[in-house]
Amino acid sequence: MHTLTDTEKKRAQRAFAEAFSQADTLGLLFYARLFELDPALRALFKIDLEEQAHSLMSMLKLCMEGLDERAELQYALRNLGARHLEYGVKPSDYATVENALLWTMREGLGNKWDTETEAALQAAFHLFVTEMQSAYRK
Ligand code: HEM
Repeated sequence: MHTLTDTEKKRAQRAFAEAFSQADTLGLLFYARLFELDPALRALFKIDLEEQAHSLMSMLKLCMEGLDERAELQYALRNLGARHLEYGVKPSDYATVENALLWTMREGLGNKWDTETEAALQAAFHLFVTEMQSAYRK
């Protein structure tokens, strides 16, 4: 599993916790950005986007907290990845999601955004998607 330095981990956790105070708004903003980047992805989502936004943000919160419990995190993300394979998510879609997530965090954090925060969040999101994608290589 990829690693983050202790400093990156704390930065990512702090930044995400800060953004999470606007979780519902940012969750919806994320999907708007995602479908702007790749309109074809819209068709994969069957459930209500508000509900979807809520479950995405809650899962990301658990993942951020899970950076302290790597074995559990790895297990949870592989299962999540296996479900995404069934949802029809392609390996190449993960980069689009990483991109949209980072953009959303930047919007949410406003003037609290800086290059260190960006690097830390990018490393954390990359770790999550890499772990999810490992479920595709069986
Ligand atoms: C950081 C990466 C991701 C996280 C944390 C995440 C999280 C979630 C969660 C919590 C669910 C709810 C269902 C479940 O738990 O199985 C879900 C569903 C879903 N996700 Fe993701 N996801 C990620 C990446 C992606 C990517 C790359 C795509 C590609 C477009 C995607 C598309 C979907 C779809 C299509 C569903 C099912 C929606 C439905 O049933 O209508 N996700 N995701």
